[in-house]
Amino acid sequence: MRSINGIAALVGQTPLLEIRYTFNGQPRRLYAKYELLNMTGSVKDRMAFYIIRRAIERGELREGAVIAEATSGNTGISISAIGRALGHRVRIYMPDWMSYERVQLMHNLGAEVVPVSKAQGGFIGAVKMAQEYADENANTFLPRQFDNADNVEAHEIMTGPEIETQLGQFGVAADAFVAGVGTGGTVMGVGRHLRRGARKVRIHPLEPANSPTMSTGKKVGSHRIQGISDEFIPSIVKLAELDSVVDVWDGDAILMAQSLAHRLGLGLGISSGANIIGAMKLVEEMGPEAVVVTVLCDCNKKYLSTALANVEPPQEGYITPQVRLQSFTSVR
Ligand SMILES: Cc1ncc(COP(=O)(O)O)c(C=O)c1O
Repeated sequence: MRSINGIAALVGQTPLLEIRYTFNGQPRRLYAKYELLNMTGSVKDRMAFYIIRRAIERGELREGAVIAEATSGNTGISISAIGRALGHRVRIYMPDWMSYERVQLMHNLGAEVVPVSKAQGGFIGAVKMAQEYADENANTFLPRQFDNADNVEAHEIMTGPEIETQLGQFGVAADAFVAGVGTGGTVMGVGRHLRRGARKVRIHPLEPANSPTMSTGKKVGSHRIQGISDEFIPSIVKLAELDSVVDVWDGDAILMAQSLAHRLGLGLGISSGANIIGAMKLVEEMGPEAVVVTVLCDCNKKYLSTALANVEPPQEGYITPQVRLQSFTSVR
C-alpha cells in the first residue's frame, strides 16, 4: 500500500550551516539552510510533499488522478518523484529554455514533459496549458504552486521552525531572512514563522537585478538564475508584508556559487549563490553582529550545462570579489 507517510522522512530536517567569511578583510558570518539534502535535492520537495499530502487529506487528489503542473524545473522534479512514488501519472509543462538536466530528470522520474516555447507564451503559457489540460480531463489534480496557500504553510510549519531551533544550537536568533522568489513560498512561509516571535525579524524577498519583476511589477529583461523570477508576481507573494526587495546580478550569483564550490566544497545551484549574496548585503547593511539566514535551494548537478560551468567575468558593483569564504560548521 503506497502512502504519503512513507516519504515523510525524506523531506525536511536539513542541516543549517554557519558560514564564515571576510568582507573587504573584515570577519563576518551568516547562516544557510542546506536544502539540497531533500528527497530530490531541492527546497521544492517540501512544498510538493505538503501540497500533495494536504490534497490527499482533503480528497482533492484521488486514486488514478493525473498531477499536472507548470514549473521551471525543481517543482517538476519534486512532483514527478512524489507523484510516481504514490502511483500517479505526472504531466509537467515547462519553458523550453530550462537546463537539459532538468528535463532529463523528469523523464527519468517517469513524468510526461510538455515543452512550452516563448511563442506559446513561455512560463505564463505553461500555467495556462496545465489549466486547459485539467479543464479537458476530469480526474486531474493541479498543485498550482504559485497560488496555493499550502506552499506557504509548508515553510511556515516546517522550514521556519527548523531554522529557529537550529539557530538556537548556534546560540543565536534570527534578525533577518532573505530568499529568492520563485513562487515565494519559502520567503512568505519562513517569514510568517520567524515574525511570530517577540523580536523584530526582517524578511526580504530577493530577485535578479537583471530582471526586477517584483520591484517594477512587470516582466523586464532576462536572467540566468533558474528557479526564481518567472516573469510575474505570484499571488501568494504579499509584498506589503515583506521588507525591501534585495537585488542580485546573475553574474555575481554565478561567481558566488563557483566560489562556494571551489573554496568550501559546497556544490550549489545559481540561486543559492544569489541567496548568499543577498544575505551578505544584509549583513553589511545591518552590522556584523546581525544574524542573517538564507537557503541553499539546490545542488550544482543540474547546472553543468549552464553558465555555472563557464568562466564568468567579474563586473563593477559585484559582491563576490570583495568576499573571501573561509569555513563553515553545520548542525542538524
Ligand atoms: C533553484 C531554485 N531556487 C529558488 C527557488 C524559489 O523558491 P520558492 O518557490 O519557494 O520561492 C526555486 C523554486 O522553484 C528553485 O527551483
